[in-house]
Amino acid sequence: MVINDEVALRMEGITKRFPGVLANDRISLDCRKGEVLGLLGENGAGKTTLMNVLYGLHQPDSGQIFINGQEVKIESPAKAIQLGIGMVHQHFKLVEALTALENVILGLPSTRPPFLDLAPARTRLLKLCEEYGLIVDPSTQVWRMPVGQQQWLEILKALYRDAKILVLDEPSSVLTPAEGEQLFKAIRKLTQEGRSVIFISHKLNEVLEITDRITVIRDGHVVGTVPTKGATQRELARMMVGRPIMMDRKPRPAMTEKEPVLVMENVNANDDRGIPALKNFNLTIHAGEIVGVAGVDGNGQRELAECIVGLRKRTSGSIHIQGKLVDRVIDDPSFVGYIPEDRQKTGLFLDLRVSENLIIKDFDHPPFSKRGVLQYNEIRKHARKLIRDYNIRTPSGEVQARHLSGGNQQKVVVARELNAKPVLDIASQATRGLDLGAVESVHDTLLSERNRGAAVLFISTELQEVMSLSDRIIVLFRGEVMGEVEGEGADVSTIGQMMLGRASEVVA
Ligand SMILES: Nc1ncnc2c1ncn2[C@@H]1O[C@H](COP(=O)(O)OP(=O)(O)O)[C@@H](O)[C@H]1O
Ligand SMILES: [Mg+2]
Repeated sequence: MVINDEVALRMEGITKRFPGVLANDRISLDCRKGEVLGLLGENGAGKTTLMNVLYGLHQPDSGQIFINGQEVKIESPAKAIQLGIGMVHQHFKLVEALTALENVILGLPSTRPPFLDLAPARTRLLKLCEEYGLIVDPSTQVWRMPVGQQQWLEILKALYRDAKILVLDEPSSVLTPAEGEQLFKAIRKLTQEGRSVIFISHKLNEVLEITDRITVIRDGHVVGTVPTKGATQRELARMMVGRPIMMDRKPRPAMTEKEPVLVMENVNANDDRGIPALKNFNLTIHAGEIVGVAGVDGNGQRELAECIVGLRKRTSGSIHIQGKLVDRVIDDPSFVGYIPEDRQKTGLFLDLRVSENLIIKDFDHPPFSKRGVLQYNEIRKHARKLIRDYNIRTPSGEVQARHLSGGNQQKVVVARELNAKPVLDIASQATRGLDLGAVESVHDTLLSERNRGAAVLFISTELQEVMSLSDRIIVLFRGEVMGEVEGEGADVSTIGQMMLGRASEVVA
């Protein structure tokens, strides 16, 4: 990087309120030329709001913005672009039906109206692709492009407008590890050219890898700005969450009783294409035990969870819960609690209120409805209790679930699913996309479930959390159990080998 101390951007005392929320509370930061500034904070901390202010999408209630030392008023994105600011949103703003090239030139004036400058634009776009190693096909429609390429397109679009300050809002959450590397290369090139990048994330490892300085925000205000060199994950986690975060294995009382709760015998099931995804699968989980399922994504994890909760038919084999055939008890919330991977599609009704989401399984009987009439007082009372018990951060139970952060949406699902104290909890990629504090909260909840005697199936592709949480770990590979190890003292490389399909070799 060629950091000179010249400040490209300074935001000073930015305050932005939404009804009931102080999203940005006198935030100040600066970003130098040629620098990657990390903007680190948990979901809901106010990162996107601050950048929307910079991009002219929100007007701040107070505060000032300086570009190259000059105070500016940014009343629209058009003005932001004119000032050299580019923004790649967390949720892309591309027009799906248009091609990559059309998206890039959309909104730009033509040099010979009414004709579009398609040919020269295409040449320029291809040159940018080449320069930054972000390859897209100009004539492909956006809806046909994988999300990684859509991300490239958003970046190229900003570069086409010659952005001097590029904001990337949680860019890596849609990228594979290899694409992540590609992105980092492009970022390094940008800063070598003297451009500035504001890199928003809640992932500590990548912020430590790519940034020069890090500004941490929590609950709408700046906690501090530190140079990346010398910063540690532990210190940053503490700043971000406001308390120390345990990154090691969770201590737990030993469980002595060995009552089997979930018993799966010779279960076979197909994936959506009808190809076998679980093959002669056997598993027993006891009361008071967390069994972790490790494995690379797509090795039968989804089918496993779906089979147990009845969302997918097994082709053969049996599944019993406390000695009862699963098909008979699946609708009984005191048997199975299910925290799915996709909380926004499977877990929640985003348009319904939090209070309604919390009773979705019981809405048709007392106390929540009587003779076909919903009892809103009871529903609200129930919501207030769960919001308190599960520490769900929401203005009230009466807001739509879509307005909550990802972590708090997940808490709604967890509260609903576990409130009836089921004998079996199934968590399937339950922490995917959540920030540290929310991940820890899910972990703590599952551990206390175990301690009260529930059997817990914990499926995750993040090996670290499987190892820190599980009493026992099985490794799935192509629908089969490749191996099994104790959680305590489990060895990463042994499990890593099994994830690649190599059974553990017994060394004599
Ligand atoms: N358009 C909006 N209307 C009302 N509240 C909002 C709006 N945008 C964000 N918020 C609230 O402001 C806070 C900060 O959100 P956001 O800036 O998206 O956080 P982050 O990007 O750090 O996850 C959250 O409490 C969020 O619910
Ligand atoms: Mg955000």
